Formats: sequence, C-alpha cells, structure tokens
Amino acid sequence: MIKIESKRTFLRDYARDGSDLESILRFTGDPEVATHSSWGPLTRDETMDYMNKALMAIDAQPRVNFALALVLKSTNELIGNVSLNIRNPQTREAEIGYTLRRDQWHQGYASEAARAVIHFGFTELGLHRIFATTSPHNVPSQRVLEKIGLKREGYLRKNVLQRGSWRDSVLYAVLEDDWPRV
Ligand SMILES: CC(C)(COP(=O)(O)OP(=O)(O)OC[C@H]1O[C@@H](n2cnc3c(N)ncnc32)[C@H](O)[C@@H]1OP(=O)(O)O)[C@@H](O)C(=O)NCCC(=O)NCCS
Repeated sequence: MIKIESKRTFLRDYARDGSDLESILRFTGDPEVATHSSWGPLTRDETMDYMNKALMAIDAQPRVNFALALVLKSTNELIGNVSLNIRNPQTREAEIGYTLRRDQWHQGYASEAARAVIHFGFTELGLHRIFATTSPHNVPSQRVLEKIGLKREGYLRKNVLQRGSWRDSVLYAVLEDDWPRV
C-alpha cells in the first residue's frame, strides 16, 4: 500500500472497495478540467473503468503504473490524482501527470504532490528520468513543472489527438542527477 506524504497532502492508492468513485468523478467529469487533455470529460462508467484499471495495476509484479489519489491531510478529502507511469523499465524512465478538482486549483497542491511523487520515483523506484508533456496552452501545468524543477526539452508537433483534432505538446523532464537527495 503506497503512501507518499508532503506537507499538506498525501498520495495513496484508490480504495479497493470502489468508495472513491464519487470523489474521482468530481474531476474526471468536469469539462473545464479536461480542456487541455486528450481524455474526458468522462462519464460515470468511464470513470469506473479508469478506477478499476488503476486498482488492477496495484498488484502487478513489478508494478509500473501508479495512479494515485491526492488527499488533503486537513480534511482527508480526495481532491485529485497524480500519476507516475514507468514507460521503459530498461532505461528507468517514467511519465508524470496530475489533475485536480477545479475548486482546489491555485493553492500549490499540484506542485507539492508532483514534487513528492518525483522524489518517490527517484529514491524508491530508482528511476533515471521523469518526464511530462502538456499542451502549449496549459500555462498552469507548465508552471507546475517549471516550479518543481523539470526542464523544457522540446516541442512536439501534432502528437496528441484531442477530441478529434491534432494538437502540439511541450516536453519537460528531470534527471536523477538533477534531483536534490535531501
Ligand atoms: C494543472 C493543475 C493540476 C495545476 O494545479 P494547481 O494546484 O492549481 O497548481 P499550483 O497551484 O501548484 O501551481 C499553478 C501555477 O500556475 C500559475 N497559473 C495558474 N493559472 C495561470 C494562468 N492562467 N497564467 C499564468 N499562470 C497561471 C499559478 O499562479 C501557479 O504558479 P505560482 O505558484 O508561481 O503562482 C490544475 O490546473 C488542473 O487540474 N488542471 C486541469 C488538468 C490538467 O491540465 N492537468 C495537467 C495535464 S498535463
């Protein structure tokens, strides 16, 4: 059972009894949250599929997908998701992502939790490189990545199919050697 703590938040696996569904739906089902994503907004059934896949990944040996609930310590409320997916075990490379409920934006929670999961990736999983891609129009997401120390590496042309149209992405990454050990 994963628990990754930061000052105001912790990340944990979704509950196996499915009890997180309503909380997850608050961000997966919101069209504004999905503005810059290739997915969503998701229906209740699609959200249940997403949650069930995340639950199945918990028991994989070795585990390569971490779709984690972002929980506020102060209220124990599930307010979002942070993911870490190992894309290439040989090169020890993983991708991060994050999504928060709209009423919790602009309080630094995404930066805090993403920093914690990157620390986990380097120190507990022994990763070499962690990357993220985002839409060039997603300024808050680029800001999060820059704040926590990822460097902009490139610009990918029309690599994402977003609701029927191709769109560009910006690529950010951080290397194990860049990451503070303390
Ligand atoms: C991206 C997202 C996770 C950020 O969450 P958050 O908790 O609000 O992020 P933080 O508060 O840690 O940081 C956001 C930063 O963006 C800045 N920002 C927000 N809106 C901005 C805007 N329109 N223009 C410029 N900067 C902006 C904030 O000021 C903050 O930077 P600062 O701390 O230097 O002031 C949230 O907006 C979200 O869930 N969006 C929808 C899903 C999504 O796009 N996920 C990422 C897919 S790659």
